[in-house]
Amino acid sequence: MSKDKLWGGRFTQPTDKFVEEFTASIDFDKRLYHQDIRGSVAHARMLGKQGIIPLEDVEQIVHGLQKILQQIEDGEFDFSISLEDIHMNIEARLSAAIGEAGKRLHTGRSRNDQVALDIRLYLRDEIVEITAYLDLLIDALLNQAEANLDTIMPGFTHMQSAQPILFAHHLMAYVEMFKRDKGRLDDCLKRVNVMPLGAGALAGTTFPLDREYVAEQLDFPSITRNSLDAVSDRDFALEFLADASILMMHLSRFSEELIIWSTGSFQFIELSDGFCTGSSIMPQKKNPDVPELVRGKTGRVYGNLMALLTVMKSLPLAYNKDMQEDKEPLFDTIDTVKGSLKIFAEMIQEMRVNTAAMRRAAGLGFSTATDVADYLVRKGLPFRDAHEAVGKAVAYCVENEMEITSLSLAEWQLFSSKIDNDIFECITVEASVNARNVPGGTARDRVWSEIQKVRAGK
Ligand code: ARG
Repeated sequence: MSKDKLWGGRFTQPTDKFVEEFTASIDFDKRLYHQDIRGSVAHARMLGKQGIIPLEDVEQIVHGLQKILQQIEDGEFDFSISLEDIHMNIEARLSAAIGEAGKRLHTGRSRNDQVALDIRLYLRDEIVEITAYLDLLIDALLNQAEANLDTIMPGFTHMQSAQPILFAHHLMAYVEMFKRDKGRLDDCLKRVNVMPLGAGALAGTTFPLDREYVAEQLDFPSITRNSLDAVSDRDFALEFLADASILMMHLSRFSEELIIWSTGSFQFIELSDGFCTGSSIMPQKKNPDVPELVRGKTGRVYGNLMALLTVMKSLPLAYNKDMQEDKEPLFDTIDTVKGSLKIFAEMIQEMRVNTAAMRRAAGLGFSTATDVADYLVRKGLPFRDAHEAVGKAVAYCVENEMEITSLSLAEWQLFSSKIDNDIFECITVEASVNARNVPGGTARDRVWSEIQKVRAGK
């Protein structure tokens, strides 16, 4: 019975068809074929070097695996549900092709340490790719920032006009976020980059494996130190999902701003047509679908983190089949993050900036009121008194439906006798921006030098 199963020995009845489908992971874990073969080659070479299996067998195994790799890449490999997962699909095919030698490959190994290895190898490559996409996005942001060093926009708090800022400064805030995302992924990579083979099913193995040699072949700087932990740890995947969630949160905040900025009421930016769609009923519409979708997809990425956290919660040591549920959330997050970053980098690169609309809005809403208060402080008034005086000036403007920039000197002097003609040069949006000349501030020179620093990799 169960003659087609690699583990069929102790079974007397065949697996129920639906159970077979329900428990199989091949539909999604076939993605790991490359890593699975790479790991098996390294394992086989080590078995040969240690004299655990004959060197002739190693040659046959390696050759056979290379052929299977080719077949999969050419789309000629028939994946079978009854062989459950990628590990057994490949191993069964190998044994069918080369016989005896193929059946020696799994010596001193379990699918439990094998799958841990495969995911680590896979995630490691994907993190490198995601980091490259982050670099593309950062680059697009730097280009736009550099092109907008003289574009002044209103900075907001509570979505209310607060103080004028450079649009470049606003973009550079996102550069900071994406740099941190890179840092987090880089840190996560340290925990991903640990080699688990040798843990066996859970307790280690009776064969004299050279685990360091396997690690060396696969470019792992270290090996796992506890076999139980090695097969039951998915912290590295959770950490990645958490980092990806934070990254998507950044993209989602940015999306929200792009959506608001491209409304008719703001008109700060225009996304290029390629990133928008029309409406089937309203002829005037150009909808910012791409940022909306990225904002929406943030939900599934958070969901994937929750899904795996919940899978892992309460799992006793060591491996449990529940853990097969780690892959789909992981793959989905990888795909979503890569797609979102790729499309964002292009969209930002092509975004058109409406400098005039930003500039106009920057001067509204008493955005330089703080500058007047600071002016009075420089004239000797305590800040709280200055704040009070300017507050009254603003109230006066509200009542008379005017901006503080149109107050006459006589009107200013109603609120403080310390105000003089030099007030007018300090309440322009340009002066306001450039006065914020602290490290990290929005003054043009500061922003310019930040852009150069990031470009130089500092
Ligand atoms: N397909 C399994 C998974 O993804 C591989 C490990 C299975 N191990 C086992 N003892 N059933 O987790």
